[in-house]
Amino acid sequence: MKEREIRPGVGWVGALHADRRLFDSLIPLPDGTSYNAYLVRGKKKVALIDTVDPTKTGLLLEKLESVPQVDYLVVQHVEQDHSGSVPAVIERFPAVQVLATPKAKAMIVDHLGVAEDRIKTVEDGETLPLGDRTLEFVHAPWVHWPETMFTYLREDKVLFSGDFLGAHLATTDLYATDRGRVYAAAKRYYAEIMMPFRTAIKGHLERLARYEFSLVCPSHGPITDDPRFILDAYRSWVLDRPKNVVVLPYVSMHGSTARMVEHLVGALVDRGVQVEAFDMAGADLGSLAMALVEAATVLFATPTVLVGAHPHIVTAAYLINALRPKLQFGAVVGSYGWGGKAAEQVIGLLGTLKLEWLDPVFVRGAPKPETFAALDRLADAVRQKHEGL
Ligand code: FEO
Repeated sequence: MKEREIRPGVGWVGALHADRRLFDSLIPLPDGTSYNAYLVRGKKKVALIDTVDPTKTGLLLEKLESVPQVDYLVVQHVEQDHSGSVPAVIERFPAVQVLATPKAKAMIVDHLGVAEDRIKTVEDGETLPLGDRTLEFVHAPWVHWPETMFTYLREDKVLFSGDFLGAHLATTDLYATDRGRVYAAAKRYYAEIMMPFRTAIKGHLERLARYEFSLVCPSHGPITDDPRFILDAYRSWVLDRPKNVVVLPYVSMHGSTARMVEHLVGALVDRGVQVEAFDMAGADLGSLAMALVEAATVLFATPTVLVGAHPHIVTAAYLINALRPKLQFGAVVGSYGWGGKAAEQVIGLLGTLKLEWLDPVFVRGAPKPETFAALDRLADAVRQKHEGL
């Protein structure tokens, strides 16, 4: 694939990675991903914005083969899926100057072994003239590392947004033409990567409201030529109140907890509460993360293994705590053989969320009529809490 033109003199020189199935050895990539790099040609100088994952360096260099000179390499984010080919670009263009935030400079040295004197730091709001074009650097920390920044191409009104507003989607569509597909992938990306940084993101959305731009060029997934589409989606995910939705991660070993889950889901639905249930023995973590974006309540259902919750529920609780969704309420239900402290253990794993915990429901052995009655009372309590949203 050759360079793909976005504007005259501005092109996509990234790489698709359609068969990548896992990111960070954790995050499922059902649609693969892309690593977007962009070439901006001014009358006097040429800048490359980001590189690609080191597994795809060859694809980037191929697109740069006929480019006589790159003067600046803008590193918006040091995570290796974007910076991993920086050393190869320096080798290909020995005079290139690397530009990054002060925090990123140290990280480029640490992670990539680039010599310090090859890197020039740029301040927030600093501009870089390329001749007839100007780049403006916008520091944007915690998208989703501390060193991140955006780049604004003033004359063309193009925002290069790094991981922000992106989507893990390997598609040959240069632009977000299939809105439904891009929306779902962007929501998954937000849930998995950006959700823990909602406060920072709120600030970035406010800052970007002062800029006029007609194109959003993220570091993953298609370019958006209707910025409102993706910005409105982010605003709703970050700013809106949680909805009348329960997320229910569960595991069952011999059927007791499964019967409780079945009853509880029915009781909640009967009371008008939407439920997203996930069998954590095989659940897609991305789907779980997506469901958490708008949910008000999390209900864990677990059998007792030795003295605590099932390890899949421990993992779910740990991840949910780390993702920091807008959840307000929680409860733990389940079963045990002879004792244990599964509920206390799960609650202890969710300390950063400051949830209001509803009464747990646990049964020794198989669920009894009084177990189902207690689950009904829990469903009543959830409905009542959700009325106040
Ligand atoms: Fe796409 Fe945070 O790297």
